Amino acid sequence: MSVKINRNDPCWCGSGRKYKTCHAAFDEKVERIAAEGHIVPNRKIIKTPEQIAGIKESCKVNMEILDYIGTVIHEGMKTSEIDKIVREMTADRGGIAAPLHYQGYPYSVCTSVNDQVCHGFPSDKVVLKSGDIINVDCTTILNGYYADSSRMFCIGDVSSEKKKLVQVTKECVELGLKEVKPWGFLGDMGQAVHDHAFANGYTVVREIGGHGVGLEFHEDPWVGYNSKRGEEMLMAPGMIFTIEPMINMGKADIYIDKDNDWEVYTEDGKPSAQWEIMVLVTADGHEVLCW
Ligand code: MF3
Ligand code: CO
Ligand code: CO
Repeated sequence: MSVKINRNDPCWCGSGRKYKTCHAAFDEKVERIAAEGHIVPNRKIIKTPEQIAGIKESCKVNMEILDYIGTVIHEGMKTSEIDKIVREMTADRGGIAAPLHYQGYPYSVCTSVNDQVCHGFPSDKVVLKSGDIINVDCTTILNGYYADSSRMFCIGDVSSEKKKLVQVTKECVELGLKEVKPWGFLGDMGQAVHDHAFANGYTVVREIGGHGVGLEFHEDPWVGYNSKRGEEMLMAPGMIFTIEPMINMGKADIYIDKDNDWEVYTEDGKPSAQWEIMVLVTADGHEVLCW
Protein backbone atom coordinates (compact mmCIF):
# COMPACT_ATOMS: atom_id res chain seq x y z
CA MET A 1 0.00 0.00 0.00
CA SER A 2 1.51 3.32 -0.97
CA VAL A 3 1.05 6.41 1.15
CA LYS A 4 -1.17 9.07 -0.42
CA ILE A 5 0.85 12.03 -1.63
CA ASN A 6 -0.20 15.53 -0.68
CA ARG A 7 -1.44 17.24 -3.83
CA ASN A 8 1.19 19.99 -3.54
CA ASP A 9 4.10 17.55 -3.04
CA PRO A 10 6.43 16.70 -5.92
CA CYS A 11 5.00 13.95 -8.12
CA TRP A 12 6.24 10.38 -7.57
CA CYS A 13 7.20 10.14 -11.25
CA GLY A 14 10.25 12.35 -10.86
CA SER A 15 9.04 15.08 -13.25
CA GLY A 16 9.64 17.73 -10.59
CA ARG A 17 6.07 18.99 -11.02
CA LYS A 18 3.47 19.12 -8.27
CA TYR A 19 1.54 15.89 -7.84
CA LYS A 20 -1.80 17.62 -8.44
CA THR A 21 -0.79 18.85 -11.89
CA CYS A 22 1.16 15.71 -12.80
CA HIS A 23 0.05 12.14 -11.96
CA ALA A 24 -2.92 12.85 -9.64
CA ALA A 25 -5.51 12.40 -12.40
CA PHE A 26 -3.57 9.39 -13.68
CA ASP A 27 -3.67 7.71 -10.25
CA GLU A 28 -7.39 8.35 -9.92
CA LYS A 29 -8.05 6.85 -13.34
CA VAL A 30 -5.92 3.78 -12.63
CA GLU A 31 -7.64 3.27 -9.26
CA ARG A 32 -11.04 3.47 -10.95
CA ILE A 33 -10.05 0.86 -13.53
CA ALA A 34 -8.62 -1.38 -10.78
CA ALA A 35 -11.92 -1.08 -8.91
CA GLU A 36 -13.66 -2.44 -12.03
CA GLY A 37 -11.63 -5.61 -11.53
CA HIS A 38 -8.75 -5.08 -13.95
CA ILE A 39 -5.06 -5.72 -13.32
CA VAL A 40 -3.26 -2.35 -13.26
CA PRO A 41 0.44 -1.42 -13.32
CA ASN A 42 2.16 -0.45 -10.09
CA ARG A 43 4.49 2.57 -9.87
CA LYS A 44 7.68 0.62 -10.55
CA ILE A 45 6.23 -0.39 -13.90
CA ILE A 46 5.67 3.28 -14.84
CA LYS A 47 9.06 4.67 -15.88
CA THR A 48 10.16 8.22 -15.11
CA PRO A 49 11.37 10.53 -17.90
CA GLU A 50 14.95 10.09 -16.65
CA GLN A 51 14.66 6.30 -16.71
CA ILE A 52 13.14 6.41 -20.20
CA ALA A 53 16.07 8.52 -21.42
CA GLY A 54 18.56 6.01 -19.97
CA ILE A 55 16.70 3.03 -21.43
CA LYS A 56 16.71 4.71 -24.86
CA GLU A 57 20.52 5.01 -24.75
CA SER A 58 20.78 1.32 -23.96
CA CYS A 59 18.40 0.53 -26.83
CA LYS A 60 20.65 2.43 -29.26
CA VAL A 61 23.54 0.10 -28.38
CA ASN A 62 21.35 -3.00 -28.67
CA MET A 63 20.09 -1.96 -32.12
CA GLU A 64 23.57 -1.02 -33.31
CA ILE A 65 24.79 -4.51 -32.43
CA LEU A 66 21.88 -6.20 -34.20
CA ASP A 67 22.40 -3.93 -37.23
CA TYR A 68 26.04 -4.99 -37.37
CA ILE A 69 25.20 -8.67 -37.03
CA GLY A 70 22.82 -8.25 -39.97
CA THR A 71 25.74 -7.10 -42.12
CA VAL A 72 28.14 -9.91 -41.19
CA ILE A 73 25.96 -12.98 -40.60
CA HIS A 74 26.55 -15.55 -43.35
CA GLU A 75 26.54 -19.15 -44.41
CA GLY A 76 29.51 -20.93 -42.83
CA MET A 77 29.59 -18.65 -39.75
CA LYS A 78 29.74 -20.33 -36.35
CA THR A 79 27.18 -19.02 -33.90
CA SER A 80 30.02 -18.73 -31.36
CA GLU A 81 31.33 -15.89 -33.58
CA ILE A 82 28.06 -14.02 -32.98
CA ASP A 83 28.57 -14.46 -29.25
CA LYS A 84 32.05 -12.92 -29.48
CA ILE A 85 30.80 -9.98 -31.55
CA VAL A 86 28.00 -9.23 -29.09
CA ARG A 87 30.26 -9.50 -26.04
CA GLU A 88 32.95 -7.26 -27.53
CA MET A 89 30.73 -4.67 -29.17
CA THR A 90 28.72 -4.26 -25.98
CA ALA A 91 31.84 -3.85 -23.84
CA ASP A 92 33.37 -1.39 -26.36
CA ARG A 93 30.32 0.81 -25.86
CA GLY A 94 30.60 0.73 -22.08
CA GLY A 95 27.82 -1.80 -21.65
CA ILE A 96 27.38 -5.35 -20.46
CA ALA A 97 25.74 -8.16 -22.40
CA ALA A 98 23.02 -9.13 -19.93
CA PRO A 99 22.57 -12.82 -20.81
CA LEU A 100 26.05 -13.87 -19.57
CA HIS A 101 25.57 -15.45 -16.12
CA TYR A 102 21.90 -14.40 -16.01
CA GLN A 103 20.39 -17.19 -13.92
CA GLY A 104 23.39 -19.26 -14.96
CA TYR A 105 23.04 -18.70 -18.72
CA PRO A 106 26.55 -19.32 -20.09
CA TYR A 107 26.77 -16.97 -23.13
CA SER A 108 26.34 -13.30 -24.08
CA VAL A 109 23.55 -13.78 -26.62
CA CYS A 110 20.89 -16.30 -27.61
CA THR A 111 21.15 -17.75 -31.12
CA SER A 112 18.19 -19.99 -31.94
CA VAL A 113 18.28 -21.87 -35.23
CA ASN A 114 15.33 -23.52 -37.08
CA ASP A 115 13.44 -25.71 -34.58
CA GLN A 116 15.11 -23.98 -31.64
CA VAL A 117 12.41 -21.78 -30.18
CA CYS A 118 14.63 -19.61 -27.96
CA HIS A 119 17.69 -19.55 -25.65
CA GLY A 120 19.86 -21.36 -28.22
CA PHE A 121 23.50 -21.59 -27.12
CA PRO A 122 26.05 -20.05 -29.46
CA SER A 123 28.55 -22.79 -30.35
CA ASP A 124 31.57 -23.67 -32.49
CA LYS A 125 29.58 -26.70 -33.51
CA VAL A 126 26.66 -24.74 -34.91
CA VAL A 127 27.77 -23.61 -38.37
CA LEU A 128 25.11 -21.67 -40.25
CA LYS A 129 24.12 -23.34 -43.49
CA SER A 130 22.07 -22.28 -46.46
CA GLY A 131 18.37 -22.64 -45.67
CA ASP A 132 18.69 -21.90 -41.94
CA ILE A 133 16.61 -19.31 -40.15
CA ILE A 134 18.11 -17.89 -36.97
CA ASN A 135 16.94 -15.61 -34.19
CA VAL A 136 19.60 -13.47 -32.55
CA ASP A 137 18.41 -12.12 -29.20
CA CYS A 138 20.54 -9.37 -27.64
CA THR A 139 20.16 -7.71 -24.27
CA THR A 140 22.31 -4.73 -23.28
CA ILE A 141 22.83 -3.18 -19.86
CA LEU A 142 24.05 0.41 -20.18
CA ASN A 143 24.39 2.55 -17.05
CA GLY A 144 22.09 0.11 -15.32
CA TYR A 145 19.35 0.31 -17.97
CA TYR A 146 18.24 -2.70 -19.98
CA ALA A 147 17.46 -3.05 -23.68
CA ASP A 148 16.19 -6.36 -25.07
CA SER A 149 15.34 -7.13 -28.69
CA SER A 150 15.77 -9.83 -31.28
CA ARG A 151 15.63 -10.28 -35.03
CA MET A 152 15.41 -13.15 -37.50
CA PHE A 153 17.99 -13.68 -40.23
CA CYS A 154 17.62 -15.92 -43.28
CA ILE A 155 20.82 -17.68 -44.36
CA GLY A 156 21.43 -18.32 -48.06
CA ASP A 157 18.62 -20.01 -49.91
CA VAL A 158 15.69 -20.28 -47.49
CA SER A 159 12.52 -22.16 -48.49
CA SER A 160 9.44 -20.05 -49.19
CA GLU A 161 7.70 -21.91 -46.36
CA LYS A 162 10.29 -20.77 -43.80
CA LYS A 163 10.48 -17.27 -45.27
CA LYS A 164 6.74 -16.96 -44.81
CA LEU A 165 7.01 -18.03 -41.17
CA VAL A 166 9.63 -15.33 -40.57
CA GLN A 167 7.52 -12.70 -42.36
CA VAL A 168 4.23 -13.59 -40.67
CA THR A 169 5.93 -13.58 -37.26
CA LYS A 170 7.13 -10.04 -37.95
CA GLU A 171 3.60 -9.07 -39.00
CA CYS A 172 2.30 -10.54 -35.72
CA VAL A 173 4.54 -8.13 -33.82
CA GLU A 174 3.47 -5.20 -36.02
CA LEU A 175 -0.23 -5.98 -35.60
CA GLY A 176 0.23 -6.40 -31.84
CA LEU A 177 2.06 -3.08 -31.73
CA LYS A 178 -0.90 -1.29 -33.34
CA GLU A 179 -2.94 -2.23 -30.27
CA VAL A 180 -0.51 -0.59 -27.86
CA LYS A 181 -2.09 2.58 -26.53
CA PRO A 182 -2.91 3.98 -23.12
CA TRP A 183 -6.05 2.70 -21.40
CA GLY A 184 -6.19 -0.43 -23.52
CA PHE A 185 -5.20 -3.85 -22.18
CA LEU A 186 -2.32 -6.19 -22.92
CA GLY A 187 -4.89 -8.72 -24.10
CA ASP A 188 -5.73 -6.39 -27.03
CA MET A 189 -2.15 -6.82 -28.21
CA GLY A 190 -2.03 -10.53 -27.36
CA GLN A 191 -5.15 -11.36 -29.30
CA ALA A 192 -3.93 -9.47 -32.39
CA VAL A 193 -0.70 -11.49 -32.35
CA HIS A 194 -2.48 -14.77 -31.84
CA ASP A 195 -5.17 -14.15 -34.46
CA HIS A 196 -2.68 -13.37 -37.21
CA ALA A 197 -0.56 -16.43 -36.44
CA PHE A 198 -3.65 -18.63 -36.31
CA ALA A 199 -5.03 -17.19 -39.58
CA ASN A 200 -1.81 -18.33 -41.26
CA GLY A 201 -2.04 -21.85 -39.86
CA TYR A 202 0.63 -21.33 -37.22
CA THR A 203 0.64 -21.74 -33.46
CA VAL A 204 1.90 -19.50 -30.66
CA VAL A 205 4.13 -20.78 -27.87
CA ARG A 206 2.15 -20.52 -24.65
CA GLU A 207 4.72 -21.00 -21.91
CA ILE A 208 7.18 -18.22 -22.78
CA GLY A 209 6.16 -14.60 -23.19
CA GLY A 210 7.33 -11.02 -23.17
CA HIS A 211 7.91 -8.90 -20.10
CA GLY A 212 8.30 -5.50 -18.59
CA VAL A 213 11.87 -4.30 -19.03
CA GLY A 214 14.16 -1.34 -18.37
CA LEU A 215 15.32 -1.35 -14.78
CA GLU A 216 15.72 -5.12 -14.80
CA PHE A 217 15.97 -7.80 -17.46
CA HIS A 218 12.57 -9.27 -16.70
CA GLU A 219 10.02 -7.18 -14.83
CA ASP A 220 6.28 -7.39 -14.42
CA PRO A 221 4.04 -7.79 -16.30
CA TRP A 222 4.41 -11.14 -18.00
CA VAL A 223 3.19 -10.64 -21.58
CA GLY A 224 1.43 -13.56 -23.23
CA TYR A 225 -0.34 -13.97 -26.58
CA ASN A 226 -3.12 -16.32 -25.70
CA SER A 227 -5.03 -13.57 -23.98
CA LYS A 228 -8.18 -11.88 -25.21
CA ARG A 229 -9.09 -8.26 -25.91
CA GLY A 230 -9.92 -6.42 -22.68
CA GLU A 231 -8.00 -8.92 -20.55
CA GLU A 232 -4.64 -8.77 -18.75
CA MET A 233 -2.90 -5.65 -17.46
CA LEU A 234 -4.03 -2.13 -18.26
CA MET A 235 -1.62 -0.26 -20.54
CA ALA A 236 -0.74 3.15 -19.09
CA PRO A 237 1.69 5.89 -20.19
CA GLY A 238 5.24 5.20 -19.02
CA MET A 239 5.00 1.41 -19.25
CA ILE A 240 7.73 -0.36 -21.21
CA PHE A 241 7.41 -3.99 -22.25
CA THR A 242 8.51 -6.39 -24.95
CA ILE A 243 6.42 -7.97 -27.68
CA GLU A 244 8.25 -11.18 -28.56
CA PRO A 245 5.95 -13.96 -29.73
CA MET A 246 7.43 -17.31 -30.66
CA ILE A 247 5.46 -18.62 -33.63
CA ASN A 248 5.65 -22.27 -34.64
CA MET A 249 5.04 -23.66 -38.11
CA GLY A 250 3.65 -26.85 -36.57
CA LYS A 251 2.30 -27.56 -33.10
CA ALA A 252 2.68 -25.16 -30.17
CA ASP A 253 4.33 -27.77 -27.94
CA ILE A 254 7.92 -27.25 -26.87
CA TYR A 255 10.52 -28.99 -24.72
CA ILE A 256 13.63 -27.84 -22.90
CA ASP A 257 16.98 -29.55 -23.43
CA LYS A 258 17.45 -31.95 -20.51
CA ASP A 259 21.24 -31.58 -20.42
CA ASN A 260 21.56 -27.80 -20.22
CA ASP A 261 18.08 -26.85 -19.00
CA TRP A 262 18.02 -23.82 -21.32
CA GLU A 263 17.65 -24.49 -25.01
CA VAL A 264 14.01 -24.65 -26.08
CA TYR A 265 12.88 -26.70 -29.11
CA THR A 266 9.61 -27.41 -30.87
CA GLU A 267 8.32 -30.85 -29.91
CA ASP A 268 7.54 -31.76 -33.54
CA GLY A 269 10.89 -30.53 -34.89
CA LYS A 270 9.25 -27.96 -37.17
CA PRO A 271 10.70 -24.43 -37.41
CA SER A 272 9.89 -21.60 -35.02
CA ALA A 273 10.42 -17.85 -35.47
CA GLN A 274 10.52 -14.86 -33.14
CA TRP A 275 10.99 -11.12 -33.35
CA GLU A 276 11.30 -9.02 -30.20
CA ILE A 277 10.70 -5.30 -29.82
CA MET A 278 10.52 -2.97 -26.83
CA VAL A 279 7.63 -0.55 -26.71
CA LEU A 280 6.85 2.46 -24.52
CA VAL A 281 3.22 3.38 -23.89
CA THR A 282 2.96 7.16 -24.42
CA ALA A 283 0.22 9.68 -23.61
CA ASP A 284 -1.39 9.20 -27.01
CA GLY A 285 -0.12 5.88 -28.35
CA HIS A 286 3.23 4.18 -28.29
CA GLU A 287 6.87 4.56 -29.20
CA VAL A 288 9.07 1.66 -30.31
CA LEU A 289 12.32 1.91 -28.32
CA CYS A 290 14.15 -1.10 -29.65
CA TRP A 291 13.66 -3.42 -32.60
N1 MF3 B 1 16.45 -12.21 -24.20
C1 MF3 B 1 15.48 -13.17 -23.72
C2 MF3 B 1 14.17 -12.41 -23.60
O1 MF3 B 1 13.78 -11.84 -24.55
C3 MF3 B 1 15.86 -13.78 -22.42
C4 MF3 B 1 17.05 -14.59 -22.48
S1 MF3 B 1 17.45 -15.15 -20.93
C5 MF3 B 1 19.03 -15.61 -21.15
O2 MF3 B 1 13.51 -12.30 -22.63
F1 MF3 B 1 19.50 -15.89 -20.02
F2 MF3 B 1 19.02 -16.66 -21.97
F3 MF3 B 1 19.69 -14.65 -21.70
CO1 CO C 1 12.68 -10.28 -23.80
CO1 CO D 1 15.29 -10.97 -25.70
